[in-house]
Amino acid sequence: MTNLSSHVALVTGAARGQGRSHAIALARAGARLVLVDIASDITTVPYPLGTAAELRETEAMVQETGQECLSFVADIRDTAAMTNVVDTALDTFGRLDICVANAGVVGFGRFWELTDDQWCTMIDTNLNGAFKTVRAVVPHMLERNHGRIIIVSSMSGRMGNANLAHYVASKWGLIGMAKSLAIEVAGRGITVNALCPTSVDTPMLQNPAMYSLFCPDLEKPTRDDVMPRYAAMNKLGRPWLSAEEVSHTLLYLCDEKAAAVTGQVIEVSLGSASGQH
Ligand SMILES: NC(=O)c1ccc[n+]([C@@H]2O[C@H](COP(=O)([O-])OP(=O)(O)OC[C@H]3O[C@@H](n4cnc5c(N)ncnc54)[C@H](O)[C@@H]3O)[C@@H](O)[C@H]2O)c1
Repeated sequence: MTNLSSHVALVTGAARGQGRSHAIALARAGARLVLVDIASDITTVPYPLGTAAELRETEAMVQETGQECLSFVADIRDTAAMTNVVDTALDTFGRLDICVANAGVVGFGRFWELTDDQWCTMIDTNLNGAFKTVRAVVPHMLERNHGRIIIVSSMSGRMGNANLAHYVASKWGLIGMAKSLAIEVAGRGITVNALCPTSVDTPMLQNPAMYSLFCPDLEKPTRDDVMPRYAAMNKLGRPWLSAEEVSHTLLYLCDEKAAAVTGQVIEVSLGSASGQH
């Protein structure tokens, strides 16, 4: 079992969904946590984002495991905010061992109908925000010659998806970022990997805007309506992953014994091979 006692982990997008699950899994493995979430909505995103109350809930769940926890309402697109998060975490805990660049958003639209705002907000959040998160921690990791960086991409970073060109572009971009950084820090005790889940049972997936995208023929589609359509997209015939299943793979990448795994794209795909869709 992965033992992360004495380690400190930063997780973005931690108010709910996969970020919350990753934070709890890391805490159960012994890590102290630094949580970040924007805790407010973004105008071009067609569903509500995490809230400050949800971020406090995650913090309480981490503390219930017996681990210390700092949490920040901060926007990963804001360099000064992310610098403050990392500086405060280092002042408090003295180290940062793990960085999980997980925060992200999705939105929809036919390629030629996407507005500048939709396109730029997507890239600014998913790609630039992950860059600003990881850039803030790397100098410290280089000083200590130690680190585990996990950049959350998606199976949408392995293929094309109609109505999601801006999301897909951001997720492919993250893979290029992870692979390039992995080369720059190779031999310095730091691994960098891209984690690519397929559909995950979180609020990003479970909302009316997403249901309508996958069931354009139905007036008010529900969770039950979309289930068979998602299940048809992978070889295991399951509609989606649980967030905990993704956390299981994340823990493997954080393990000290995973020092030889870097610059890799790790798919948690229910058997939906990349390039298939
Ligand atoms: N749910 C899926 O099907 C799925 C599949 C593959 C990959 N992903 C990726 O996994 C990651 C986590 O998604 P999730 O499924 O947990 O979604 P989610 O919407 O449940 O959680 C995302 C969290 O990120 C936060 N966030 C968004 N923009 C932010 C910003 N600018 N600064 C700080 N926090 C911000 C939100 O408030 C929210 O709490 C995302 O990068 C997403 O693209 C999701």
